[in-house]
Amino acid sequence: MFNRRGFLMGSVALSSVALATSAAAKPFLLRRDPLIEGLLRRMTLEEKAGQLSIFTAVGGAPINPAEGLNPSAKAVLAQVRDGLTTGYLGSFDVAYLRSLQKIAVEESRLKIPLIFAADVIHGLKTVYPIPLGEAASFDVELCRRTARATAQEASGFGVHWTFAPMVDVARDQRWGRVAEGAGEDPWLGSRIAEARVRGFQGEDLKAEGSLLSCPKHFAGYGAVQGGMDYNTAEISEVTLRQVHLPPFKAAFDAGALTTMSSFNDINGVPSTGSRRLLTEILRDEWRFGGLVVSDFMSDKELIDHGFAADDADAALKALWAGCDISMQSGLYLKHVPALVRSGRLSEKVVDEAVRRVLGVKKAIGLFDNPYRALDPARRAKVEGTADMIALAREAGRKSIVLLKNDDAILPLAKTGKAIAFIGPFVSNKANEFGAWAYAGDTSKTVSLQEAVRNALGPDAQVTFTEGCKPTRPIDGGLEAAKAAALRADIAVVYVGELSSSTGEAASTISITLPAPQQALVEAVAATGKPVVVLLKHGRALALSGAVTSAKAIVCTWFLGSQSGNAIADVLFGDFAPQGRLPVSFPRASGQEPFYYNHRPTGRPQTDAMTMFKARYTEEPNQALFPFGHGLGYSRIDYGKTEAAAPTMARKGSVKVRATVTNAGSRAQHEVAQLYVHLRTASITQPVRVLRGVQHLDLEPGTSAVVEFEVAAEDLGYVHADLRESADPGVVDLWVAPSAVAGQAATLTVI
Ligand code: GLC
Repeated sequence: MFNRRGFLMGSVALSSVALATSAAAKPFLLRRDPLIEGLLRRMTLEEKAGQLSIFTAVGGAPINPAEGLNPSAKAVLAQVRDGLTTGYLGSFDVAYLRSLQKIAVEESRLKIPLIFAADVIHGLKTVYPIPLGEAASFDVELCRRTARATAQEASGFGVHWTFAPMVDVARDQRWGRVAEGAGEDPWLGSRIAEARVRGFQGEDLKAEGSLLSCPKHFAGYGAVQGGMDYNTAEISEVTLRQVHLPPFKAAFDAGALTTMSSFNDINGVPSTGSRRLLTEILRDEWRFGGLVVSDFMSDKELIDHGFAADDADAALKALWAGCDISMQSGLYLKHVPALVRSGRLSEKVVDEAVRRVLGVKKAIGLFDNPYRALDPARRAKVEGTADMIALAREAGRKSIVLLKNDDAILPLAKTGKAIAFIGPFVSNKANEFGAWAYAGDTSKTVSLQEAVRNALGPDAQVTFTEGCKPTRPIDGGLEAAKAAALRADIAVVYVGELSSSTGEAASTISITLPAPQQALVEAVAATGKPVVVLLKHGRALALSGAVTSAKAIVCTWFLGSQSGNAIADVLFGDFAPQGRLPVSFPRASGQEPFYYNHRPTGRPQTDAMTMFKARYTEEPNQALFPFGHGLGYSRIDYGKTEAAAPTMARKGSVKVRATVTNAGSRAQHEVAQLYVHLRTASITQPVRVLRGVQHLDLEPGTSAVVEFEVAAEDLGYVHADLRESADPGVVDLWVAPSAVAGQAATLTVI
């Protein structure tokens, strides 16, 4: 069953989940809860400030740099006993966390349970592909399933609340955090945000195997200038609403009850201190009933932003803006009671924040069952199950994107050809996880070498040569690599980024391969042997030279625990690649920020050579490999896009279709994409925007008609008055295999 958006609706009764949790969100805003009101009446200002403060619990004691202190475990126990923290983040020590919870619910004055949080982004012990890699599957049901499996595993490790999904729309590949999200498209990002929230939270937020989600970072973090992490973001509110906010709204509509304010400012107002963002949009307009947690010290950073004068002012401005919980700085604990007593801050504001925090704790069942996820015996039952390992391999396979496959060199034969595997990652499996998988169980990861051996058996004609380190040459490395290639029929060169080169605080001025690795590919290519390039990466890369001239190029992202097996499955044809690019691959770093859904400009580049057009002197401003692109092992042809009617009333809808044919000799899983373009608008609209995806399986020689139903909501845009609606006018539509392919149909909206 396909909905209008074209995504397969999961078998789970998702609508009941959405209604249940969003209904649960409403009472914090609209109805007073007797339990919570009773607690509020009894709480001191210090205890209220405690519920609005969360700290890192590392090794049994929180580290609080704001104080410059590293309190002993004794101090932590006192903090819990005195009700001066709402919970802790970053620990998976179940016995320790259970001991803290016991003090909270048995010894503290009001017995309010603690909440335990962690960054469980793409797996915990079992690690799935990085979110950007999984987004390449364009498979929302898969994204839901891996989030669900992650939640189930995390429930064995003392985690109630995950700081995920990251839903920032990222359009500049220099930003390291592009790895953590779903790429450059708001529509795909919204569908995946929904899926991950539903996966983490499941059908019952109170269930043992559910995780409270936290779509982050609210908002505009993906728009940091120059792709430089923590930088300012200059975004019009029209663009904020059309590009950066939709995945958050989708996540909240799917039932998310928390969000995290972002480090960046928007037009000079830091998100953590922005009442426009955290109250007027999030609560007054969207009626969000959950809580906002700051990012790590982002309330104290209001001072560095030049937005707050001192700690007390920072606490005042953050809380007033709508940031309910202070993460790590301790500013609320230290200053809120005095701010209220001095009259600078109304206790009503504090009470509203405490209501939301206690309401969320109640919604996830902590008052009923404070020891959920704190059963030491549970870990053995939920860690790294066979189903999880199988899912990690499936997700890895489906995330791989085949960019190029000249002469159908792939898939490789398992016998009859000698293959030289070359590169710093062929045997080294220290970089399979990518960013934000610090708790991953590395003992179970599978290197490419191990996987090839598994796939081909001990007698296979394969060699494995490092050639260079990820960021530095090895003496004799190139010579050894060339010799290995000369002794083989085919060279598979595995190059890319380190896990540490992506994620937070990993912005780069150049998205090219590290020089030693580029040199390795050049050296191997110089032997004249056919080359297959495998890429390990957490962002789009600017590929060049022997990489782009290789016979085949395969995006493997960071695929997690089953990385080697997933790559081998695709390399040797046990699984045909079906992934599509969620980010555009540019021709050069200098094109960043580069994204497919850009405005036309007054001088759109029509061909590479025309002067005085929106292009660069060195390169046409086109993608080397465009958003949505991905090959399989069979040739897929798209017929012309057709609209069932030439016009559409704004209240109506029209079916749009194209015939898709498998003209090759192998079965293929295809991902058909629906794009639209509004030719004229009061605010100019992108040359294309994605509005639907359909997955289909095509046997060789068969065709299928892929059909989408287009309605006004697919053709709307944010106007200058910040309202979203569709205008009358001519629309171009494509049912296509990428953001630059397909034969358009036109439709007139009347
Ligand atoms: C980090 C990240 C955020 C994470 C938080 C807690 O600085 O910005 O994504 O959830 O701190 O670890």
